[in-house]
Amino acid sequence: MRLTDDQLAEYEERGYLIIRDLIDPEEVAALRADLGRVMRLDTAEVTKEKSGVLRTVFRVHDPRSPTASPPFATLACLPRILGPAQQLLRDDAPYVYHSKCNLKEAIKGEIWQWHQDYGAWANDGVRKPDMTTALLMLDEATEIGGCLYFSPGSHKLGRCDPELDTETTSYRLWTVRKLDVVAAMEQIGDPVAIAGRPGTVVLFHPNLVHGSGHNMSRYSRWHIYTVYNRVANRPPTRENARPEWVVARDTTPLRMCSDDGIVRLRHAA
Ligand code: SIN
Ligand code: MN
Repeated sequence: MRLTDDQLAEYEERGYLIIRDLIDPEEVAALRADLGRVMRLDTAEVTKEKSGVLRTVFRVHDPRSPTASPPFATLACLPRILGPAQQLLRDDAPYVYHSKCNLKEAIKGEIWQWHQDYGAWANDGVRKPDMTTALLMLDEATEIGGCLYFSPGSHKLGRCDPELDTETTSYRLWTVRKLDVVAAMEQIGDPVAIAGRPGTVVLFHPNLVHGSGHNMSRYSRWHIYTVYNRVANRPPTRENARPEWVVARDTTPLRMCSDDGIVRLRHAA
C-alpha cells in the first residue's frame, strides 16, 4: 500500500497519521489469540506492573525470541504497514528496532508518562530520528480506557533532553520533563486523544510527545507497536546496550510478505 501525498503531508505536519480499519477483524482475532499465548510465558520479555498484572510483552516480531509470534512477525511485513513505513523512512529496506504489546489491563493498567520515543533511542546510540512506529489497536481505545494522547506537531520541536523516571511505574522510562511538556503545550496547543476501533493503525514520528493515562475502564486496552528503523541508522554495538528485547541486534531488512499472510497462517494452523 502507498500513502497519498495528502497523507504524507499530514504526517509531516502533525507527526502522526491515523488509518482506520486497516487491519481486518479476522486478522485482529488471530493476533489477539497468539498474544493470549505468549503473554503467559515466563520470560524477561513479559513484564508486569508493580501490582503484578501484565504490562508489556516485548519482541513478538522476532522468530528467535522466546515470545516469537508468527502472526506478529507477519504483521511487521504486511504491505499495508511496511509499505507506508518504507515511504515515511524513504528507505525500501528498514528493519524492526523493537516490537511491544502494551496490555493495559482493565482497572489496573497503568500510565505511560509524557515522553518522546527518540528520548530513549538517541541514548541507545541511534544517530537520527529516521524511524517510525506503527501502532495497531487490538481493542477499542477509549479515553476512560487509557488511550494514547498525542501533542500534534510536537515532533517539530526536536528532541527534548529526557529525564529517566524509575519511580512512577515498573518500566524505566525516559520522559519529557514537566516544564518542557508544559512549554510545548503552551506553544503548540493541547494534546488530542487517539481513540479508535480495533484494526486502527497509527503511524507516528519518534519525536512526537505522547503519553497515556491509567485504564479506569472494565476493558483491557491491548496495543501493539512495531518500530521501524533504517539499517544505516542502527546503533553501534555497545557492551552496556539495553537488552535485545528493546534494542534489536538483528538488523536484517524486512521482506514484504503477502497481504493475506496473517489469515493464511490462521488457516494453516
Ligand atoms: C508508549 O508510548 O511506548 C506506550 C504508550 C501506551 O501504550 O499507552
Ligand atoms: Mn512511546
